[in-house]
Amino acid sequence: MKSFMVQGTKILATGSAIPSSSLNNDQMSKIVQTSDDWIFSRTGIKERRLLTGYNQSVTNLATMASQKALDKISMDPSEIDLIILATSSPNDLFGSASQIQSQIGAVNAVAFDLTAACSGFVLGLVTASQFLSSGSYRKILVIGADVLSKWIDWSDRSTCILFGDGAGAVILESCPIKDNSILNFQLNTDGNYSDHLSIAYQDEISPHPILNLHQGCFKYVSMNGKEVYKFAVSQVPLSISRCLSSINMSVHDIDWLLLHQANERILKAVAEKLSISSNKIIANLSKYGNTSAASIPLALDEAIQENRISNDDIIVIAGFGAGLTWGTIIMRWKSI
Ligand code: UT7
Repeated sequence: MKSFMVQGTKILATGSAIPSSSLNNDQMSKIVQTSDDWIFSRTGIKERRLLTGYNQSVTNLATMASQKALDKISMDPSEIDLIILATSSPNDLFGSASQIQSQIGAVNAVAFDLTAACSGFVLGLVTASQFLSSGSYRKILVIGADVLSKWIDWSDRSTCILFGDGAGAVILESCPIKDNSILNFQLNTDGNYSDHLSIAYQDEISPHPILNLHQGCFKYVSMNGKEVYKFAVSQVPLSISRCLSSINMSVHDIDWLLLHQANERILKAVAEKLSISSNKIIANLSKYGNTSAASIPLALDEAIQENRISNDDIIVIAGFGAGLTWGTIIMRWKSI
C-alpha cells in the first residue's frame, strides 16, 4: 500500500455499452482474405461489435456506459467531481470528455481525456485514485472507450480482424483506508518502440505556399503484431510480479486475472508464465475482439453482472499497448 495514501478508493458501480452491429469472422472473410479458422486459432476472436451509423462516435458509447453505471446506484450525476475519459479515438482532438459531462448532466464535474491506447483505463483508474487518496475529489467517473473501427484500414487483414468498438465505466468514491480497493499499481512506458503500434499523424509533403507550414492528417492503425505480442508476453508478467511482490503478495493470492483483451493467446501465455490457472482468466474477446481502452472495464462489468467475482477477491488488472505503455493494478474487490 502506498505510504502517502490518506484516503482509499472504492468502486461504487460499473457499466458498459457495445454497439448493436456485429461482424463475425465469416463476414470478415468477405471483406479481406482471411478465415474464421485463422482468426479464431490465432486470436480467440469470433466476432466484434462496430459502431455504425452517421455521426455516431465514442461519446455515444461512453455516455451509455456511464449512464448505466449511474443508474445502477441511482446516483445524481451532479455528485461527480471528475470525469476521466480514456480514449484514443475521440471525436474532437481538443477532448471528448466534456461532451459526456454535458450529456449525463454532471454539472459539477471537471472532465478531461487521457490518451494511452489499450493501457488507458489502467492509467485512468490510477490517476483517479490519486485524486481520491489526496482528498482532492470524492467521486470520480472513469471511462475506457474506443471506436478504433474508424481508424482501421479495412483492407489490412493483419489489423482489421483484431479490433472492435465498446465502452466501460466505473464510478469511484474515496473511502477510509481499511476499505481501499486499489492495493498497488505499477506503470511503465518505453517510447523507443512507439512505432510498433500507432495511429500516426503525417504531414503533407508540400508546405503552405507562404507560411512554409506542413499540414496533414492522421493515418490508420499501424501495428507490428509479432513485436507487440512478444512485448506483452515478456513485460506483463514482470509488471504483475513486481506489483505483487512490493506489497508482499504472490500469485497464489490472485483470484482473477483481468488483462487487456488483445489476444487469447497472450492471456494464456501470461497466465502460464505466472503459473496462474487458466480458469482464473477473465476473457470475453471472442465476442468483442480488442476494444482498446474499453476492454478491461467491459470485461469487469460483465464478470460482475455474471456474479463471478466475490467480496474480497483479489483481481490483478493489467493493460498494455501502444506507447509502448503497460501497467498493473492489484485490486481487492468489495461487493457493490
Ligand atoms: O492492444 C494491443 C494490440 N495488439 C496486439 O496485442 C497484437 C499482438 N499480436 C498478435 O495478436 C498477433 O501477432 C496477430 C494475431 C496480429 C498475428 O498473429 P501471428 O501469429 O503473429 O501471425 P503473423 O503476423 O506472423 O502472420 C502469419 C501468417 C502470414 O503469412 P505468411 O507470411 O506466413 O505466409 C500473414 O500474412 O498469417 C498471414 N496473415 C493472415 N492470414 C489470414 C496475417 N493476417 C491474416 C489474416 N488471415 N487475418
